[in-house]
Amino acid sequence: MEDFFFEPYKIKVVEPIPITTREERKKIIKDAGYNVFNIPAGKVTIDLLTDSGTSAMSQDQWAEIMRGDESYAGSKSFYNFQETIKSIFGYKHVIPCHQGRVAENILFMNLLKPGDIALSNTFFDTTRANVLSKGGIPIDVVIEEAYDPEIEIPFKGNVDLNKLEDTLKKHGERVKIFVLTITNNSGGGQPVSLKNIRELSHILKKYGVPLFFDTARYAENCYFIKENEEGYENKSILEIAREIFSLGDGAMMSAKKDALVNIGGFLTFNDDELAEKVKQTLIIIEGFPTYGGLAGRDLEAIAVGLREALDEEYLRARIRQVRLLGNYLMEKKIPIVKPVGGHAVYLDALKILDHIPQSQLPAQSLTCAIYVEGGVRGVEIGSLMFAEKDEKTGEVKYPRNELVRLAIPRRVYTDNHILYVGKVVESVFEKRNKIKGLRIIKESKYLRHFTAILEEVN
Ligand code: F0G
Repeated sequence: MEDFFFEPYKIKVVEPIPITTREERKKIIKDAGYNVFNIPAGKVTIDLLTDSGTSAMSQDQWAEIMRGDESYAGSKSFYNFQETIKSIFGYKHVIPCHQGRVAENILFMNLLKPGDIALSNTFFDTTRANVLSKGGIPIDVVIEEAYDPEIEIPFKGNVDLNKLEDTLKKHGERVKIFVLTITNNSGGGQPVSLKNIRELSHILKKYGVPLFFDTARYAENCYFIKENEEGYENKSILEIAREIFSLGDGAMMSAKKDALVNIGGFLTFNDDELAEKVKQTLIIIEGFPTYGGLAGRDLEAIAVGLREALDEEYLRARIRQVRLLGNYLMEKKIPIVKPVGGHAVYLDALKILDHIPQSQLPAQSLTCAIYVEGGVRGVEIGSLMFAEKDEKTGEVKYPRNELVRLAIPRRVYTDNHILYVGKVVESVFEKRNKIKGLRIIKESKYLRHFTAILEEVN
């Protein structure tokens, strides 16, 4: 029976799930301006909007919450937090902040000037917006295969080292940082190999460009390395993590993912001068450097969560559940990004809704149709999120893919919930020809997908 799979935890607290009718959902989506961010969570049956801040915490995390030390300065909880992070990441300075985008903001405020360039395999949307808001220029140098949902290779989040060298040669000293997103969220939750990280690190050292990791889902990335990279089969997840971080200069983390908490983040790196500047900024916008916008109890929960997420049995259950959904959809011949990534299944809306042009936001249309069908909330990663309008010519540059991300919260849903999602998507797929496109009637300048209001194109 050793091979029989089961989750390495049992359930102690349960939360009821909202049930709605199709008629209600049709009205809800219209009232929400065809933007799922405007739907009250109480009207969502299975919420796959994000895997961020949506994890179920463990009994040990809840226990530590009771032990949190809420001292303004020098809290015991900070020292626990700092020690745990140093033991995994190995960098000298640990700076707490309340979520990942603050870490990005504080770091870029002190590293980037207008006209500077920041590179990444693929910037996540907030990371990209944080570069742009400092007047910086974000450039992605991921391998070409990452843009093709059909190509199945194990490390589809890898950096294209030729593109990287060309960009470094072309822009020289204007390049101020490389941010490696592990796993690569915008690219389908795809991992980066240690071989690629080693080569990347070598090239960046040659050009004097610091390497920072965006580590929201680094534990999942480590699991893929253990599973698929030669020479790492017998290493622990922690050993793999330490090897990754030894190749860079620092990391930022949204603890809301692989630290299994509902809020939190941090920055960690070696540079003393940068640490002084970052702490000054932190005091102005977040809080004193031993709490950084978090309660002491949050720091404790993060410390425990970071250790729990490195547990291989937990990771095996996690990745298996994401694959359960991916494999179900592939069996039904529904186009998804392959291979299935670490935290989500990404539906290929360009293929599923090939009758809707990109100007009418096919991925957003599919997201709305899935909500109406079964109360399942996913999120668009397509033109609503990424299309760019040239201010002068008015010409719109569309992204290469139109995806719907079904992100799976950690330790929250059972396999039955996941199979229900599979059935809902299958049912939408069967009547895909009836789905209509959308047009934007109101939008903001940055990150418009959060607040845009849309209507159906008839
Ligand atoms: N980096 C990555 C790779 C992310 O996926 C996110 C957030 C952030 C940084 C920002 O962190 O939310 O704590 O400020 N991703 C969430 C998502 C929102 O749904 O993928 P944050």
